Amino acid sequence: MTDPEPGRPLLRTMRRVRSVRSFRPDPVPDALLTEILEVARWTGSGSNRQPWTFIVVREPATLGAIAAASPNVGHVAGAAAAIVIVMDGGMPEIETFDEGRVTERILVAATALGLASAIGWIMSGGAAAVGALLGVPEGRRVRTLVSLGYPTEEASRPKSAPGAARRPLAEMVRFERFS
Ligand SMILES: Cc1cc2nc3c(=O)[nH]c(=O)nc-3n(C[C@H](O)[C@H](O)[C@H](O)COP(=O)(O)O)c2cc1C
Repeated sequence: MTDPEPGRPLLRTMRRVRSVRSFRPDPVPDALLTEILEVARWTGSGSNRQPWTFIVVREPATLGAIAAASPNVGHVAGAAAAIVIVMDGGMPEIETFDEGRVTERILVAATALGLASAIGWIMSGGAAAVGALLGVPEGRRVRTLVSLGYPTEEASRPKSAPGAARRPLAEMVRFERFS
């Protein structure tokens, strides 16, 4: 019999996407990174411009240098890999939306594959340093990275009581009624 709700496991995975910032030193196999990047590649973007390139960083010294360039991306220093999302920079307003879409898909794909992941937002003051480090051409926007790796045992435990980390649906949804 065909499964009447084949998408349910995906929805469960999506509800479980949380930031996990402590990683074991084990490498992430290339095959898994490629699967994640394939999901990223298929992200829809404004006018299908696909205004991104992805830089996969695995060298510990480079991960450490990125962490040092911006105050809130410390987790990348301990990651097994990071995907740095480089936006073309031609249409900033649309690309900001595209950047969010592609980032979320990377997080969902990583979670589906049993990997820990966390966003790092490189503050504008650190973007030039990270761009230079990674050889990003002038004019492109380097802002978002995703740290990846296998979670430490402690990081594998639930971060909060079930349901506690988000406001209840009733607080954020209103079903419009028409008379
Ligand atoms: C636009 C944006 C920027 C973020 N920047 C960072 C960041 O620089 N460093 C970080 O550790 N987490 C960052 N996060 C992750 C959020 O802090 C996190 O998703 C939020 O606190 C909810 O926690 P959870 O992902 O564990 O559910 C960012 C998330 C978003 C959407």
